[in-house]
Amino acid sequence: MSYKFTEDAQVYAKKMDRLPWSVLRRYERRQIAGLLDGIELGDCIDIGAGTGFMTSLLSSREPRSLTALDKSSQMLEHIQLRGVSKICADCTEDFGSDRFDSMLSFGLLEFVDDYRSFINRCSKALKPGGHFILVTARDCFASRLYKRYHNLIMQRDINVVPEDELERELNNNSFVTLKKCYLFPFNVAYLLKNGGT
Ligand SMILES: C[S@@+](CC[C@H](N)C(=O)[O-])C[C@H]1O[C@@H](n2cnc3c(N)ncnc32)[C@H](O)[C@@H]1O
Repeated sequence: MSYKFTEDAQVYAKKMDRLPWSVLRRYERRQIAGLLDGIELGDCIDIGAGTGFMTSLLSSREPRSLTALDKSSQMLEHIQLRGVSKICADCTEDFGSDRFDSMLSFGLLEFVDDYRSFINRCSKALKPGGHFILVTARDCFASRLYKRYHNLIMQRDINVVPEDELERELNNNSFVTLKKCYLFPFNVAYLLKNGGT
């Protein structure tokens, strides 16, 4: 899969402020805020943080510590929040063991070459009983358009994992689904708990 996010960082950051993205992103932020309600974030990580759109939401909840991980250093450079540690790394590689109380990944899984390794790394890095909010594209008409847009305009492939396959993989990695909901126009969001001991 070609990796274009590095060159897109500037464009990506600006896009968030423009219609229709600004409205969509505000809606997504509200939905994630709802899922976060009542969760003690503790040591928290935003995986595939990009320019920090969701990192700032996590920051507003005052976690004990907050880490932003992304493969693109150019994306991470845009995150100017105080107290945020940055890790420039591939999420399919080791980023800790029993290290975090909570994690969020929004719009990353569909860009990862080996999504199974990604889930496995998350399961290892999250403490038993920790919470994981995972948001990714689901297979539907709108995501097929999104996939075409990425193929044609961005020249990058995306991998929309069927929901049943994804849920099996999550279960196999000790994740228990506490909530699942659909976000307009094509995302599925899971609130998961690490049931591992
Ligand atoms: C669509 S953006 C989402 C950014 C952010 N979560 C948000 O909601 O705005 C996807 C991000 O995932 C990052 N990414 C893609 N593949 C990655 C990988 N294998 N490991 C870590 N980050 C990756 C990209 O650099 C990009 O910043």
